[in-house]
Amino acid sequence: MKRAALLAAGLALAGTAQAAQKLGEVQAQRSPEQVYSAVCGYCHGKNVGPVIRGRALPAEAVEYQVRHGLNAMPAFRPTEITPAELKALAVWVQNSAADPKEHGQ
Ligand code: HEC
Repeated sequence: MKRAALLAAGLALAGTAQAAQKLGEVQAQRSPEQVYSAVCGYCHGKNVGPVIRGRALPAEAVEYQVRHGLNAMPAFRPTEITPAELKALAVWVQNSAADPKEHGQ
């Protein structure tokens, strides 16, 4: 009986640790807004490169551009922008509204 209770407690603890780890992973994923302002917004909207918001650019094209780069735009590796972050970012860029404060080349 005592052993069973200990085992149950141990399992419950392990479950909590696993849940906490999952939570950590979710929290580690940055939102599209965060990635855009920290990475893309360094150039886009600031007169370096074209404005990319409010143009309904296809998400697949955005993903391709980010992984491969083009001319003055560098490519970004999965260690810099995770696959999950990029997927969300690309959809966000496609659906984003134009920001009148942004200026393109
Ligand atoms: C160092 C500056 C820089 C950064 C950072 C940058 N870009 Fe770019 N980007 C450019 C430039 C310059 C071009 C134009 C390339 C060309 O056509 O020669 C471009 C082009 C693009 C295009 C094609 C636009 C079109 O009109 O077809 C997309 C999409 C794009 N960037 C997305 C992104 C995203 C998303 C990020 C953030 C993850 C990002 N870029 C980060 C400089 C940058």
